[in-house]
Amino acid sequence: MKLAFLAALGVCTVFAQKEPDKLAPYFPTPLTVVEQMLKLGDLKPGEKMFDLGSGDGRIVIMAAQKFKADATGVEFDEALVKQSLVKIKKLGLADRAHVIEGDIMAQDYSSASMLTVYLLSDSNEKVRPILERQLKKGTRVVAHDFEFAGWKPIKTVDIDNDGEGRGHRLYLYVR
Ligand SMILES: C[S@@+](CC[C@H](N)C(=O)[O-])C[C@H]1O[C@@H](n2cnc3c(N)ncnc32)[C@H](O)[C@@H]1O
Repeated sequence: MKLAFLAALGVCTVFAQKEPDKLAPYFPTPLTVVEQMLKLGDLKPGEKMFDLGSGDGRIVIMAAQKFKADATGVEFDEALVKQSLVKIKKLGLADRAHVIEGDIMAQDYSSASMLTVYLLSDSNEKVRPILERQLKKGTRVVAHDFEFAGWKPIKTVDIDNDGEGRGHRLYLYVR
């Protein structure tokens, strides 16, 4: 009887686990813009940074390679995670570039000095309470194209042309 109850509880737990919300489609940031995001966030060697929805890992890779940061991406798409990890290994960056295969909404960002975010406005609204709870004072957040409603950016940068004819806007927040 007890065993049957525990088995049923296990089944319920499996069903209760929520599928992650798709907070944005995969749409990579051009590398020229990635560099400007990390510069705007004043990312320093050894600092811990996270990219929320890290796609092919380009932000994490540049943060680790060029800015010498301890960089972690969070991405739920298995193929993109695999692609990122192959590149990280090939570049010999595995000691300071990491990718968590998981949900942006289920991570701990309390150790971060800086975050990059390229999600949609509605998604920023969903992520915002988590960041407000977790981020330590002074953490820099750089958002690409979609701002965080309710937060006041300390700087906004417009990039007229990324080299591919597209314009971008970056927002810098300090918590
Ligand atoms: C617009 S792309 C940005 C990719 C990368 N940050 C960049 O700027 O090049 C958003 C990424 O977030 C991922 N994503 C969306 N919802 C997610 C979730 N709940 N958990 C983890 N990743 C998610 C998507 O798979 C996609 O790769």
